[in-house]
Amino acid sequence: MIMPETKKIAVIAGDGIGPEVVAEAIKVLKRTEELFGYRFEFEHGLFGGIAIDEKGTPLPEDTLRMCQAADAVLLGAVGGPKWDNNPKELRPETGLLGIRKALGLYANLRPAVVFDCLIGASTLKPEVLRGTDLIVVRELTGGIYFGEKYRRDTENGQIAVDTCVYSVPEIERIVRRAFEIARQRRKKLASVDKANVLETSRLWRETVNRIAPEYPDVELEHVLVDNAAMQLLRRPASFDVIVTENMFGDILSDEAAMLTGSIGMLSSASLGDGNRGLYEPVHGSAPDIAGKGIANPVATILSAALMLRLSFGYHDAADAVERAVREVLDAGHRTADIAEAGDKTVGTTEMGDLIAAAMRN
Ligand code: IPM
Ligand code: MN
Repeated sequence: MIMPETKKIAVIAGDGIGPEVVAEAIKVLKRTEELFGYRFEFEHGLFGGIAIDEKGTPLPEDTLRMCQAADAVLLGAVGGPKWDNNPKELRPETGLLGIRKALGLYANLRPAVVFDCLIGASTLKPEVLRGTDLIVVRELTGGIYFGEKYRRDTENGQIAVDTCVYSVPEIERIVRRAFEIARQRRKKLASVDKANVLETSRLWRETVNRIAPEYPDVELEHVLVDNAAMQLLRRPASFDVIVTENMFGDILSDEAAMLTGSIGMLSSASLGDGNRGLYEPVHGSAPDIAGKGIANPVATILSAALMLRLSFGYHDAADAVERAVREVLDAGHRTADIAEAGDKTVGTTEMGDLIAAAMRN
């Protein structure tokens, strides 16, 4: 057998439950080395609040260089009450936005799949949820997150300004990515905007309409964001791919997470033009449960599966991870966040062990 090249994975576990869930994803990646003969080299770097404490900045130079030199980045979570009142440059979230921008990761993919065996874990009715399998494609390096921001004193007191900016090329590349993804799936694309009010949304919609004829096999609908928030709860199973700008995608992907029962189930991939990607759970650092060994590692493990598939093209290993997750959940194993009354729960490391053990070549 030809030895596959060693893939460099930069690990930035971050704060709160980040290190706990990342450890389980690494466990699963190591299991794919044993089962499939792949080779990974893990390099660890400081990031987020812990980096502020130790290096005085949420995204130290050497961490960024390590990520730039890697084939993929595995991220846990950042933030916590300790840094919540810090100025902008000393906030963990600023590091997260900084690394997305620095690595050019403009396409954020957030799949939300309702597992039949977890259908009771959601707050919504099973008959509404059944069959839900959608993906939010969120623009990640533009919009109001990155536009000019300032405060100014006026005669009416202080004002604060956040600017939302989108250029045509920025919209084109994310929309094309979404059409391509839809083509690989059920060929339905919902573009979400607020074109009845916002100029950036009108440019967004025009651009989508101009590109759409290149993808005649994909069925396109435009949905206003307020209506999309409602339709996601009313008819989640009818969505396939949802493409939207940065802040709308942030909000709608949290909403989509709750369809699956727990945000602890939602994985994500952030991609640029090449193969390098950053993989992280959609959930945050959950400081309230950090260090207790009860966090759900499934979102991070499924993010590692996305890494195997999208950055490395190791579809066999990605399938093995996804199948193992399904099998372990089908067998009734639950972390606290997805447990129903009466379920016996497992902890973070036990869940990781069960998934690693269930993997097959
Ligand atoms: C996310 C998070 C981040 C975002 C925060 C932590 C900056 O909510 O990844 O969805 O808003 O993008
Ligand atoms: Mn968010």
